[in-house]
Amino acid sequence: MNTYMVNGVELAAVDRGTGLPLLLVHGFPLNHSLWQAQIDGCAERCHVIAPDLRGFGTSGVTEGEVSMEQMADDLAGLLDTMGIQEPVVYCGLSMGGYIAWEFWRKHRPRVAGLILCSTRAAADSPEAAANRRLMADRVLGEGPAPIADAMLPRLAAEVTLTRYPERVEAVRRMIFSNDPRGIAAASRGMANRADAKSLLPEIACPTLLIAGQHDQIAPVAEMRAMAEAIPHARLVEISGAGHLGPLENPAEVNAAILSFLGELKR
Ligand code: MLT
Repeated sequence: MNTYMVNGVELAAVDRGTGLPLLLVHGFPLNHSLWQAQIDGCAERCHVIAPDLRGFGTSGVTEGEVSMEQMADDLAGLLDTMGIQEPVVYCGLSMGGYIAWEFWRKHRPRVAGLILCSTRAAADSPEAAANRRLMADRVLGEGPAPIADAMLPRLAAEVTLTRYPERVEAVRRMIFSNDPRGIAAASRGMANRADAKSLLPEIACPTLLIAGQHDQIAPVAEMRAMAEAIPHARLVEISGAGHLGPLENPAEVNAAILSFLGELKR
């Protein structure tokens, strides 16, 4: 892990391999190690950059609220600081996808291709947003346990829970290693995020959507509708996976990413 001073905060990131940059943006409330199998599986074929977002992992924390736009600006700033000016393949999971919409809105010349894993274009309903704000307050008072209890049962598919308990344990460790102030700030940022549905027809770059067969948070049907609304998109469904395909079925996710990278290079 290297650290970089970006927009007033220290961001930690894995920087491995050479060639086409692949920016791996984790979900909530996780860290870069969600992508460990992709870092290991893709770094021989491209330049993998896997940051901890502001407030997560070993990156610096901002109190209050951190917007999806701020996170997108952090990623653009990180690329600047690393000296990466060529367009990247932006690959984001869930919250990493919410940030992708803002990255596309503000930094689109930097995007060579988009990979959207287990994410949604719709904003939160008023009830969902209110729940996130309540959860932010609870996490500040009690630590990460309430968010771990609420999310863990919905993140992984049944088969992962029974066959790969160590993978679920890794997710639990990621959640508990985060600073409650970082979790709360991102939670409030997600509650206030803009709806991105009207943006989908404007996404002009090659796009791959990766959906988990059993995802309860970003269901396959919703992701298929997104793929139909984005002009140059196709969808790959990951068998046996819930919301965290990259960790639940890394072989299928790596194959999908590497084949997309191969198409971009042609
Ligand atoms: C994530 O994986 O980033 C979260 O499920 C996003 C969310 O809570 O909407």
